[in-house]
Amino acid sequence: MSDFITPPVPPMTIHFDAQAGTLTPEGPVLERRMSDLEGLFADKGAWDEAVANGNPVVYSVVSTPVPEVDRELPQSITTIEPGTTAGEFWMTKGHQHPNHQGEIYLGISGQGGLLMFDGENTSWVDMAPGVIGYIPPGWAHRSVNVGSEPYKFLAVYPGGAGHDYGWVLENGMGQRVYSSDAGHEFAPFFAAQA
Ligand SMILES: [Fe+2]
Repeated sequence: MSDFITPPVPPMTIHFDAQAGTLTPEGPVLERRMSDLEGLFADKGAWDEAVANGNPVVYSVVSTPVPEVDRELPQSITTIEPGTTAGEFWMTKGHQHPNHQGEIYLGISGQGGLLMFDGENTSWVDMAPGVIGYIPPGWAHRSVNVGSEPYKFLAVYPGGAGHDYGWVLENGMGQRVYSSDAGHEFAPFFAAQA
């Protein structure tokens, strides 16, 4: 058997419904509520209040059955709900790939942004339907919903990349993204405040 075949995943057709934000066949589904985002929003008091008042779903991720193992190429659709916590736009936890591998995000619907941080420099890609954001190896990445509708994007990533969420908790993402009259604005990163 060729080295490039990783049993038991066969060649497959995956149906992608951009409007519904679904992938068929569907694999694992992940839901992140406000309580799962501890230590990430700047205003801890506002975060505490949001957790106590309904603990809303901030984002969810649906994936296909392609496994997260080396040499496979998993895909997922993330939906970030619109909202802010003390003015800071709702976002994903953000992560670094321990193996420093690249990834692409394709905007599907809504208005979002891709915030990247290499430990020194930050980068921002305005994400809209049809835009591909490229995440080079070594850049931590977080997605932010800067609009008033759910923001959906498709991710395609190396199965062996891994997800290091602790790196972001420790190092931040370089900047924070807030709602403003102009839509969104950036503030230098600072740790969560009580
Ligand atoms: Fe990633």
